[in-house]
Amino acid sequence: MGAQVALRGVSRVYGAAKALDDVSVEIEPESAVALMGQSGAGKSTLLHLVGGMDLPDGGEVEIDGRSLPRRRLDAHRRRVGFVFQRFHLLPALSVLDNVLAPVLPYRVDFDRRARARELLEAVGLDGRERALPGELSGGQQQRVAIARALIGHPPLLLADEPTGNLDSATGEEIMELLGTLRRHYGMTMMIATHNPELAASCDRLIRLQDGRVVSDDRLEPSEDVLHRIGRLG
Ligand SMILES: Nc1ncnc2c1ncn2[C@@H]1O[C@H](COP(=O)(O)OP(=O)(O)OP(=O)(O)O)[C@@H](O)[C@H]1O
Ligand SMILES: [Mg+2]
Repeated sequence: MGAQVALRGVSRVYGAAKALDDVSVEIEPESAVALMGQSGAGKSTLLHLVGGMDLPDGGEVEIDGRSLPRRRLDAHRRRVGFVFQRFHLLPALSVLDNVLAPVLPYRVDFDRRARARELLEAVGLDGRERALPGELSGGQQQRVAIARALIGHPPLLLADEPTGNLDSATGEEIMELLGTLRRHYGMTMMIATHNPELAASCDRLIRLQDGRVVSDDRLEPSEDVLHRIGRLG
């Protein structure tokens, strides 16, 4: 079951600049939300707060109706998958070990290696378990990063410009993959993007400007989008 996310009057301040200024939004479980807005609008800041990688200066972030604590956020972080623009794979580790890395320090109630192999197959990389990241294309590296993000069965997937370092055809493949995985695993997904096509594949588009929400629209998937994501024949 996907996580329910709410921001209630959230602010994040850097010196005189407000990276986020009194942002309130509620996000339904298993929905896909695109965050758009100019560089500096606050998209990454918002994702970091939801992911428990940063703390707000005011307001609350709630997950499933409970405010995130201000300390001991590691338990929350383990329940969140994060995909970055620049992949951030560990270059000396194999593909399989990169996917396993987030759960290696913890006791888990599932078979890690079986889960990693299942995910590598789901992202189209079965047979590449022993490759090093440097032997893969950018799109393949992002697929590894997506598998790594999902290793702990997260109910919430956060992606910060996941297609930003990829050519448009590869970006489209990654976008489709994220949509397929979200539906298959029933995750809530929040994606910061400058890519209008990626945003259009989401259920909802929130625009930020100078740290504030300036529009918030439900998206009716166009037929073109539905065809591309395989919901129509
Ligand atoms: N660690 C930091 N220290 C100081 N200012 C910061 C820091 N992180 C973000 N900011 C500022 O907060 C504002 C929002 O930044 P943020 O990175 O969230 O924007 P963004 O929408 O993700 O932009 P981009 O599209 O370029 O990724 C910007 O004005 C930025 O300069
Ligand atoms: Mg950013």
